Amino acid sequence: MKNIVIAIDGYSSCGKSTTAKAVAAELGYAYIDTGAMYRGVTLYLLEHNISFEDLPRVEEALHQMQITFKRNRRSGRNELCLDGSIREDEIRQMRISNAVSEVSVIPAVRHAMVRQQQRMARKRGVVMDGRDIGTTVFPDAEVKIFMTADVYTRAMRRQVELAAKGEEVSLDDIVQNLQKRDYLDSTRAESPLRRAADAVLLDTSHITLDEQVDFVLERVSSVLVDGLRAAENG
Ligand code: DC
Repeated sequence: MKNIVIAIDGYSSCGKSTTAKAVAAELGYAYIDTGAMYRGVTLYLLEHNISFEDLPRVEEALHQMQITFKRNRRSGRNELCLDGSIREDEIRQMRISNAVSEVSVIPAVRHAMVRQQQRMARKRGVVMDGRDIGTTVFPDAEVKIFMTADVYTRAMRRQVELAAKGEEVSLDDIVQNLQKRDYLDSTRAESPLRRAADAVLLDTSHITLDEQVDFVLERVSSVLVDGLRAAENG
């Protein structure tokens, strides 16, 4: 089977990462959660008391910090590491969700992350989720999905996820955070969140996770079959 890139972009908390993880497991592909990388940068800047506006210090920090993923054998998950330590739980906290969109508008941050994402998927055979994968990181991705869902559905899912980690947050606070991030993500100058012209829209408001995964896998099969036909005919 040809190794391809599957780009899953869309709004916060639409189920992108759960879908991407399941698709990667099904295909034996690597899964790269690019949002975790921006969260990791945010955590680093906060911990080192670096103002997001202090661009020289942000650039210096980008050279110093090491953002990597480590596979957790027990859960099978790829966990985000900052300078070698797993920081998966901290990057999911609300304090990071509240600051991450301000960090991900910084062009130097985007350039560094995009370069690293392109290097990580050099050999293809990956499912990558984020905001700009189909438009900027891999405009040549063979499968592009753009996910969306009703904001209350997304907020309720996020509330359950946070509660499972012991963080009780009101639905209103989550809705506000999602709306703020949607706005900042879609209106920033550098690689804003937008649907690539060739991305397929997937609205997850009223469908199950299994249906989301099947939808993506069907797209993958049809792209692979078309590729085989083209190779036979060419
Ligand atoms: O997917 P997530 O909610 O964990 O992402 C956190 C933030 O990172 C999101 O609000 C916007 C930013 N992000 C981005 O700008 N580009 C990406 N490719 C992925 C995430």
